[in-house]
Amino acid sequence: MVKVVVAGAAGGIGQPLSLLLKASPLIDELSLYDVVNTPGVATDLSHISSPAEVTGYLPENGEGVKKALKGANVVVIPAGIPRKPGMTRDDLFNINAGIVKGLIQSIAEVAPEAYILVISNPVNSTVPIAAEVLKKAGVFNPKKLFGVTTLDVVRAETFVASIVGEKDPRKTTIPVIGGHSGETIVPLFSQASPSVDIPSDKLDSLVNRVQFGGDEVVKAKDGAGSATLSMAYAGFRFAEKIIKAVKGEKGIVEPSYVYLPGVAGGDAIKEATGVDFFSVPIELGPDGAEKAINVISKANDHEKKLLEVAYKDLKGNIQKGIDFANKPA
Ligand code: NAD
Ligand code: LMR
Repeated sequence: MVKVVVAGAAGGIGQPLSLLLKASPLIDELSLYDVVNTPGVATDLSHISSPAEVTGYLPENGEGVKKALKGANVVVIPAGIPRKPGMTRDDLFNINAGIVKGLIQSIAEVAPEAYILVISNPVNSTVPIAAEVLKKAGVFNPKKLFGVTTLDVVRAETFVASIVGEKDPRKTTIPVIGGHSGETIVPLFSQASPSVDIPSDKLDSLVNRVQFGGDEVVKAKDGAGSATLSMAYAGFRFAEKIIKAVKGEKGIVEPSYVYLPGVAGGDAIKEATGVDFFSVPIELGPDGAEKAINVISKANDHEKKLLEVAYKDLKGNIQKGIDFANKPA
């Protein structure tokens, strides 16, 4: 039996993500939690003729979240405010840090064994917050905590395909590593598989487009939020990979932002990057993150320069999250 919880299920990402999860035959129970509108979203989805049983919960003075989370195997968190034009993801910190902290405290209490997939921005800081809260509660399992950076991978696949003329972007695997904001996002086109030939006069703008793809959507939505549909696709892609790996499927690899010292192979990457949290391709298995794959050592000189910038920015983002989680209430 697989129970998936979406926290923030009534939002721009939450609704289409819940739709994709409801349509998946891999899921038996889908539990929707939000501070508003979940009864309606859950009832609507429950009419879809797929196996998952859908339930919706509102806060109910703190009891609703516990009911929603009880028995969860996977919790996906897209709760929190999105950007408007002119904002950075870090501008979301003041509101979203508290939302993520509260949700993780409930997970620590009610569903400490669950795989936790954090979508809420700024991911570079919200994942360290989650780790600290779980540590304090004595239930931190680094193999089960993931910052969802799949949208960066999805964008890299899509933008490269349009340059090299590949009709199906999914046929090319591109490691995108680092964090999830601006220059902390580093696509390693030199390690694309199968290899891609990107004209040198197009490389800089391609890298920039992947790093700032989120801004492209924020600008186009013109005040109505940030990426929701592509994020729902990406969030579902990652959640589905976790579920398949847990069910025993082998050879599943997807980049994700993890706590390096807690994942096999992570120490060498921590030494190279100087940070505890970093996104690299992760081999997924029945226990979660089985292995962090060191793609950094093979980065070319251009990519190494991009990485140096990413390390610097990430250090501050990570520390900000840790400090927030540990400040006295
Ligand atoms: P949204 O405002 O449309 O939806 C957010 C939902 O969260 C709302 O329904 C709101 O009621 C709910 N919410 C607020 N506080 C909550 C709480 N304490 N518990 C449960 N639910 C709560 O926003 P959105 O467009 O869906 O974006 C959500 C978050 O995802 C933003 O922080 C955004 O920046 C982030 N995001 C991340 C990525 C990524 O790649 N990781 C991509 C896109 C967006
Ligand atoms: C994205 O990459 O689209 C998200 O992180 C949302 C944003 O604020 O850009």
